[in-house]
Amino acid sequence: MLIAIPEVLNATQVDACREIMDQAEWVDGTVTAGIQSGQVKKNAQIIEGSTESKLLGDIILDALAINQTFISAALPQKIFPPLFNRYAGGQHFGSHVDNSIRAVKGTPVRIRTDLSATLFLSSPEEYEGGELVIEGNYGAQEIKLNKGDMVLYPSTSLHHVRPVTRGTRVCSFFWMQSMIRDSGQRELLYDFDQSIQELSAEKGVDNPLAVKFSGLYHNLIRRWADC
Ligand code: NI
Repeated sequence: MLIAIPEVLNATQVDACREIMDQAEWVDGTVTAGIQSGQVKKNAQIIEGSTESKLLGDIILDALAINQTFISAALPQKIFPPLFNRYAGGQHFGSHVDNSIRAVKGTPVRIRTDLSATLFLSSPEEYEGGELVIEGNYGAQEIKLNKGDMVLYPSTSLHHVRPVTRGTRVCSFFWMQSMIRDSGQRELLYDFDQSIQELSAEKGVDNPLAVKFSGLYHNLIRRWADC
């Protein structure tokens, strides 16, 4: 399942990120790529663990911590510190699947990548090309979102970024381990939660059926989650 989450960051937060990005030091993007993906990756990245990277990452992680759609869809257990990339002058990232396990630099923390995220920090008018193309059961989907919006997709998916033929595309990207390892169970919980929200909005949060379904939702999480 692929979920686009609008306005993870508001315009002020995006502007703040862009200012910090302008101060940062950029390196070749192959530094965090695996052997296969390193051969098809042509972009630039902010140095992992740098002051700017941490400042930017905190803005995003603070926003995600209060984003109900994100929490419901990802049920995150561990989130990799966000990374930042830049494509310009025809740069692209060929077809690949993200590494299954990511170690957080300088820590003993390792994350199983259940979900991948791309948060757009350029508006679509700023560049030509640069679509994130994700292959799924229903064919390939092209993603190019407004600045501040984020797409969440299964890390098991083959994906690529089309060449940026005009302007510059900057994004944040990162991975997370979900409390619910199985994607089928996770998607079912998301649909269930969305349905409970709709029922509560229509009939009130204290509606007996909404209360009962909410209990069932949490009992399923208790059964399936690692935390
Ligand atoms: Ni990737």
